[in-house]
Amino acid sequence: MDTATRLTPAEIYDQLFVPTLFGRFPHLVLDAAGVGRDQAVLDVGCGTGAAAEAALERTGRGGRVAGVDPNEEMLGVARNKGVPIEWYAGSAEGLPLPDGTFDAVISQFALMFFDDPPHALREMVRVLRPGGRLAVSIPDAIDHSPGFSVLAELLHRRFGPDVAEGFRQPFRGGDPDWLRQVCDEAGLTEARIERRDESARFASASEFVQAEGACLWTLGGVLDDAQLQRLAADAEESLAPFRAADGTVTVVLPCLVVTARKA
Ligand SMILES: C[S@@+](CC[C@H](N)C(=O)[O-])C[C@H]1O[C@@H](n2cnc3c(N)ncnc32)[C@H](O)[C@@H]1O
Repeated sequence: MDTATRLTPAEIYDQLFVPTLFGRFPHLVLDAAGVGRDQAVLDVGCGTGAAAEAALERTGRGGRVAGVDPNEEMLGVARNKGVPIEWYAGSAEGLPLPDGTFDAVISQFALMFFDDPPHALREMVRVLRPGGRLAVSIPDAIDHSPGFSVLAELLHRRFGPDVAEGFRQPFRGGDPDWLRQVCDEAGLTEARIERRDESARFASASEFVQAEGACLWTLGGVLDDAQLQRLAADAEESLAPFRAADGTVTVVLPCLVVTARKA
């Protein structure tokens, strides 16, 4: 039995997916929310804590960082790290925290999965103190992410439309008009919505496939090891346009970032 088979899906996500992908993106929401020393920050849909941990680096131990997620397995991985962050089980639509508590509320790559995104935004504003800032990022449409589009097409050819569609799911909120409507419904008519590019760099196309295979929301548990190996072999060729001379593969993942300030 190799190490990966002994790990839970959440541990695999944290060890294989976060370092190359989502672990590179927290600065987008932290910058947008102006997170700095000694602030109180809440990360909504925190998963295993990628953005909350990055927030703690900025606030220092004089600050307060909390994370909320409904998935106990993800929270278990976060808790086991032993960092001084408060972890709460709960949903964005019913944050288990009092009004007016935080200087900043951030959320990274989660809003597109929420049951009721406008309600979730209203909740995030509720727990902000007056003058506090909200910053939420989601992936832009997959059509704006060429490396991911190539992988989606490859999945379609190899494993059919359902697998490809599953892979596209996290990109489904990538529509500024939809996001504007969500903000308006939440009463955030002054919210700013910006497109921001960030890239992910992998040692090889296979590493990219391995990372995606560890993502609970795309290929994790959908493809078995043999299927992932076949996909990786195909991806080496299909992702050649994204390969540098040193063999590394870089794919851009544009994001939409919502920023708002509580009056
Ligand atoms: C793609 S993961 C991102 C996790 C984390 N923000 C990161 O950057 O690694 C999406 C997260 O949203 C959480 N989620 C889904 N529905 C939610 C809801 N209604 N309220 C709060 N979190 C939710 C999931 O449990 C999951 O941890």
